Amino acid sequence: MTNLTIRRLLIDLETPVARHWCGGDAFLTAWFNALSMSFPVGEQFFIDAVREGAKALPADQQARWEAEIKGFVGQEATHRRIHALFNAQIEKHGLVNAWAPRAESRMVLFEGADPRHPLGVTAAYEHFTALFAEWLLSHPQVLDGSEPRLQTLWLWHSAEEAEHKSTAFDLYQALGGDHAWRAKWMRRVTVFFLSDALRQTVSNLRRDGTLWRWSTWRSAARHLLGRQGLLRTNWPAWRAYFRPDFHPNQQHSERSATWLREHNEQFVPVSAAGR
Ligand SMILES: [Fe+2]
Ligand SMILES: [Fe+2]
Repeated sequence: MTNLTIRRLLIDLETPVARHWCGGDAFLTAWFNALSMSFPVGEQFFIDAVREGAKALPADQQARWEAEIKGFVGQEATHRRIHALFNAQIEKHGLVNAWAPRAESRMVLFEGADPRHPLGVTAAYEHFTALFAEWLLSHPQVLDGSEPRLQTLWLWHSAEEAEHKSTAFDLYQALGGDHAWRAKWMRRVTVFFLSDALRQTVSNLRRDGTLWRWSTWRSAARHLLGRQGLLRTNWPAWRAYFRPDFHPNQQHSERSATWLREHNEQFVPVSAAGR
């Protein structure tokens, strides 16, 4: 069982956000904006999947899971709220969120499904989020030149994603979810996640008028495919998910605890019971 703290972030998201808030880099801004656009809808799906999964546990196991489920739901609910505030700011830049409605139209397919299916999907997305989180925590220079409040937003979210990266996976296993379906969902989620993220990034860049700038493509190549790039450095960790004995805890995330310890003036812990 993982002990998860719910934290209220003490940052201002009422003040407008600069158009190229990520250090003046159009690509990085568009990429982070795209991810943020998916969070309110996506994280609600994860919350629902975990809640429904917990209800399907045998009665004698439910008490053991209660605290972790509350922690997971509380963390994701906080992320949703904060990113909705952030999204309201970036939409003032003329960006249009096409990812969320597309994802919502797919989610309908899970109504009435065995709870292990949405959980398998959630576990796969949570692996992606954990990889992204670890990459960002280990390359915080990506956010250099961004306002401190926005650095905090992204690094806090990353730290909590690393903290709860096992919850959906463990619940899937506890419900007897098998390896074949887990791998199948990861293959599908990979296609959806990468195509959705790239489509939304391109849309953001097009609306921003920076899609065809050389600097945009140079930044994309460097940050996605370069030696320290997101896709290139995470390829082995992504593949590991297909091993039958894979567990999220096999991949280290000590940077999460360090960041939370060193920045504890930027949030206040709240009790799960109080929410
Ligand atoms: Fe989250
Ligand atoms: Fe998460």
